[in-house]
Amino acid sequence: ASPPLPQNEPIHAYAPGTPERAALKAELARLSSTTVEIPMFIGGEEVRTGDLQEVRAPHRHDLLLARAHQGNTEHVKRAIEAARRAHKGWASLPWTARAAVFLKAADMLSTRLRPTMNAATMLGQSKTAYQAEIDAACELIDFLRFNVHYARQIAAEQPGSSRGSWNMQEPRPLEGFVFASTPFNFTAIAGNLPTAPALMGNTVVWKPSANALLSAHFVMNLLREAGLPDGVINLVMGPPEEVANACLAHQDLAGLHFTGSTEVFQALWRRIGDNIGNYRTYPRVVGETGGKDFVFAHKSADLEGLAVALVRGAYEYQGQKCSAASRAYVPRSLWPALKDRLVGLMEGLRMGDVADFRSFLGAVIDERAHKRLAGRIGAAKGDPSCTLIAGGGTPADVGWFVEPTLIEVRDPKHALMRDELFGPVLALWVYPDGEEEAALKQCDEGSPYGLTGAIFARDRMFIEQAASTLRFAAGNLYINDKPTGAVVGQQPFGGGRASGTNDKAGSSLNLLRWVSPRVVKETF
Ligand code: ALA
Repeated sequence: ASPPLPQNEPIHAYAPGTPERAALKAELARLSSTTVEIPMFIGGEEVRTGDLQEVRAPHRHDLLLARAHQGNTEHVKRAIEAARRAHKGWASLPWTARAAVFLKAADMLSTRLRPTMNAATMLGQSKTAYQAEIDAACELIDFLRFNVHYARQIAAEQPGSSRGSWNMQEPRPLEGFVFASTPFNFTAIAGNLPTAPALMGNTVVWKPSANALLSAHFVMNLLREAGLPDGVINLVMGPPEEVANACLAHQDLAGLHFTGSTEVFQALWRRIGDNIGNYRTYPRVVGETGGKDFVFAHKSADLEGLAVALVRGAYEYQGQKCSAASRAYVPRSLWPALKDRLVGLMEGLRMGDVADFRSFLGAVIDERAHKRLAGRIGAAKGDPSCTLIAGGGTPADVGWFVEPTLIEVRDPKHALMRDELFGPVLALWVYPDGEEEAALKQCDEGSPYGLTGAIFARDRMFIEQAASTLRFAAGNLYINDKPTGAVVGQQPFGGGRASGTNDKAGSSLNLLRWVSPRVVKETF
């Protein structure tokens, strides 16, 4: 019998007076009063260049958290060499020996290192305690443990044999190195993108987002302490284009594991395409990119459930989840009551310093994001085809804050219903009752993305109709729930269209992309 699925890591509530809360507060205080020095990590060695990038808390311009040593093409080349050198030894280990490193890391994170990883994610990425906990603790631990579970299944899969011979499938890693390029918005994804290929025997050059260096530093330290051999995962920092160019130009690039913007992913894919004749093998290209995730409500929807899902789906973590609800389709008959409820809920959302446990939102990630969002909100305010229902403020004196903002648009084809804004801005279109099918079509065709979406209805016939019309509009579809918060092992995550290659993070589908099997037939 195969072993059961691992248990998902339980979520700590950090209630007042609990030891968990005290430990997290102590780490927040410690990391707020020290400036961490972040080296690169190449071939088992910490590398310092003296070319330092400042890391500040998005919600507090005055809080300098770290200084990170920036590298250049030469450091990337060294990292690739280190990955190449480590490849043979790491790949020839039994898979269980590799798995042990990641299981140990999961256990260490679950206990001793949890407050540090959460505090780093809260301060460095402006997440509330709850948002950090479900990401940097629970989801990262789950990725590590569930990937081992799926790797065991892959190792066990063997072809049939007939008399006089036997066949064996060897789940080899890719021949070369994997380039992992990770986003700011989830510490768990930053941990998963290098470790999933490494679990399958690959060695990795990892470039974390410049906006999540503090948590990336602690992820790297966690893996080192768990016993990851030198050169298996090499952390490099530097100008993103320069790092990517150095990796993608190398003949031994065997895979790209990417989460980030659609635009960057397409640029990287193009560069791989241009270089395709020069690689030793065809690189595996795995990417999760943008989203313009929908909530589609039917007149039979439960109003309270819908309102809460919209608020949580659109505004938790300042709308900076690729899964965040950012466009809504609501029937006219529901709109007046829904509007009142949404405005009421939004008035109660507290925005501020995430170290204050009462905050519901922190700040958006950086000045660039703030400028982009302030620009789009400003344009909507002056646009006669839009009505600002709630929010709209963008106070930037203390940190990069953007209020939770709700905008009603009169045209479902409005750019606010199509473009990914990556911030706490929800666009909403009210459709005429009785025209559900046309509205569903708008939803399906209204954006180039296909990541997540939600349908709210009690009417079973409508749920089936919507799920059918929206078949390719979401890789993760939620019925009567918000479109965020996929749980590893329960809702394997990813989407198609412009949202990515849909190689479901935290599933055997993803791990198989990092395997290049050899099938051996021996005849007797
Ligand atoms: N996996 C993350 C979520 O579902 C992005 O919200």
